[in-house]
Amino acid sequence: MTGPGSTLRPAQTPLINYIPPSGSGKTHEIHRCSMRHPNPSSQNQPRQLQSVPVLQSVSIMTTTNSAPNYALGSTDAEHERLIRQAALLAPFTERFFRSAGIGPGQRVLDLGSGVGDVAMLAAKLVGPSGEVVGVERDPRSIARAGARVADAGLPNVTFTQSDVSQISSSKPFDAVVGRFILMFLSDPLAVLRSLTPLVRPGGVVAFHELSWAPFLLLAARLPLWFAATSLIHETFRRSGANTEMGFALYQIFQQAGLSPPTMSLEMPLGNDPEFVRWVPDVLASLLPQARQFNLPLEPLGDLNTLRERLQAEVAASNSVVTWMAMVGAWSRKPATHT
Ligand SMILES: C[S@@+](CC[C@H](N)C(=O)[O-])C[C@H]1O[C@@H](n2cnc3c(N)ncnc32)[C@H](O)[C@@H]1O
Repeated sequence: MTGPGSTLRPAQTPLINYIPPSGSGKTHEIHRCSMRHPNPSSQNQPRQLQSVPVLQSVSIMTTTNSAPNYALGSTDAEHERLIRQAALLAPFTERFFRSAGIGPGQRVLDLGSGVGDVAMLAAKLVGPSGEVVGVERDPRSIARAGARVADAGLPNVTFTQSDVSQISSSKPFDAVVGRFILMFLSDPLAVLRSLTPLVRPGGVVAFHELSWAPFLLLAARLPLWFAATSLIHETFRRSGANTEMGFALYQIFQQAGLSPPTMSLEMPLGNDPEFVRWVPDVLASLLPQARQFNLPLEPLGDLNTLRERLQAEVAASNSVVTWMAMVGAWSRKPATHT
């Protein structure tokens, strides 16, 4: 493995700003919110949504720039889930990167590479004359990513094992990119500030992050789907992840000295079993954390049959469900930026 060296960066407090609804949490409730029900039959009825017990705000100081728990873990099953997810999202991320100007011959830095899908997608865009350096903290993920690029015959993709807050490079990058990484950092602004000096003047900064708010609103019309997705959301939230990182990008880019980013929001829709599968898949990876937080699993029934029951609920709706809202933000580094 090769890649940039290290300099330690400080960490701060994660943003926790959304109190989710939950289907039927039975334990004590410390928050209620009122929202319009998206079901057309009750469109004008403000609905009191029950909440599972939640912290209204969390303040965590760490000595690295990471939320205290990376909730998804690094099991083989989670790696396979990331690969399936990447296949679904590839057209969205590719279109986003192309619109941001990622192209042939460029040198690209990919943050939080996981098992390598975004780095390999970037490699397709930069071609053999370009280069991609992926940064990933988890040794198991990086081993899998390395094996996959070797299998794919991509010698111009390398990975380095590092926290994203500890990157330095003597050679500038044409672009720094990442997908679903800033949401897991306790101080994404500090990381962005530490990385912009590594990008050449006029180079690109482009991130794909999430917004859960529209997803949860649209999920609310299917009870089991909503119970499962609310539990996923709450587990992420309690682990310190920022589930509204997508919209935060607008300010963070500017605070890091970049111009206001060009932004987009896309929500894949579907109803076939492979599409619906992402919810039980994510839940399976999150279960140890959900149990650690004592979140109620009873509303989901038998977890062994959850996947089939979710598929049946979606099929019976004769409609489609959404994936999470992906927010893309990209900007160019000003020529005068230091
Ligand atoms: C949700 S996965 C996304 C992987 C990949 N970007 C993709 O879209 O397929 C987030 C990855 O970021 C890594 N990660 C989280 N915090 C990190 C940190 N502070 N430094 C480096 N990697 C980190 C995790 O280990 C995980 O592999």
